[in-house]
Amino acid sequence: MANTTWFITGTSTGFGHALAEYVAQQDGVNLVATARHTNQLGYLDQYDHGQILRQTLDVTDRHEISTAVAAAKDKFGGIDVLINNAGIGYFGTFEESDRDAVAYMFAVNVWGLVDTTRAVLPLMRAQHSGTIVNFSSIGGLYSFPTLSFYHGSKYAVEGISESLAKEVGDLGIKVMIIEPSGFRTDWAGRSSQKKLPTIPDYQKFADNIEGSAKGAHHEAGDPHKAAQIIFDQVTNHRETLPLRLPLGKFASDMAIDKYTKELAHFKAVRDLSASADQPQ
Ligand SMILES: NC(=O)c1ccc[n+]([C@@H]2O[C@H](COP(=O)([O-])OP(=O)(O)OC[C@H]3O[C@@H](n4cnc5c(N)ncnc54)[C@H](OP(=O)(O)O)[C@@H]3O)[C@@H](O)[C@H]2O)c1
Repeated sequence: MANTTWFITGTSTGFGHALAEYVAQQDGVNLVATARHTNQLGYLDQYDHGQILRQTLDVTDRHEISTAVAAAKDKFGGIDVLINNAGIGYFGTFEESDRDAVAYMFAVNVWGLVDTTRAVLPLMRAQHSGTIVNFSSIGGLYSFPTLSFYHGSKYAVEGISESLAKEVGDLGIKVMIIEPSGFRTDWAGRSSQKKLPTIPDYQKFADNIEGSAKGAHHEAGDPHKAAQIIFDQVTNHRETLPLRLPLGKFASDMAIDKYTKELAHFKAVRDLSASADQPQ
């Protein structure tokens, strides 16, 4: 059987690093490990027997995206699994968040994922097969104070991915959205800007923001376990791949809580909702 090729964004630390390291150890699997700075990928050297391509990729740079995808095609003939993992955070109240910083987060979390996917889709359509794994968050389903714009970026990933799945499903392309709760990565630390409130009305949220920073690297989630689960789902359960996969107990609990309450709510307002239509 031909090797499968995995293309992963943001493999310097966190989920991307854990997944790249796991994929690099599997038989019959090629790895395109991308990062803004490939000198951070030395951890892959011990597994490299010619099946690994390290490629510079800042997902906000469309030229680098097309170069990386072309390099993957040249070396391995195609891309079977795209992992859109690269992402950053932003903590701050809605009113006080810095517009440029938030726009940059959208450039990474939303447009980076979109542009990378658009670059890879022609290869997958030509192959009549492929799997796209998009990193959202439980924050793509459930919202907390001081994360409004992070939620906005991840809810965007959810909607885009769900619609895309319906467009490409019968072309042999699967889409899976990953929704982790807190995992031990660099996300809550160096990868998230924090803007403490200065408006007295919002002072009560200062602890949320400072607490997230202090909690970095103490989260319940283990990125190595996440990597194994994602690899197993894509490799051994592709036919029944879930569109949404919360990872971590907190993510699962929050998703069930939200959808249980929302279901009851939508049922309670069903008649009111329907009353907005023209009489049939
Ligand atoms: N950890 C959690 O609790 C958690 C929970 C839910 C969802 N997530 C999501 O998981 C994904 C991975 O984050 P993580 O938790 O593994 O955090 P992480 O350890 O901080 O990793 C983030 C990765 O994204 C890369 N990155 C940032 N900006 C980039 C850009 N412009 N172009 C390419 N790569 C870029 C970083 O590269 P550099 O080293 O160059 O900065 C790094 O490799 C993100 O989408 C995040 O939103 C994380």
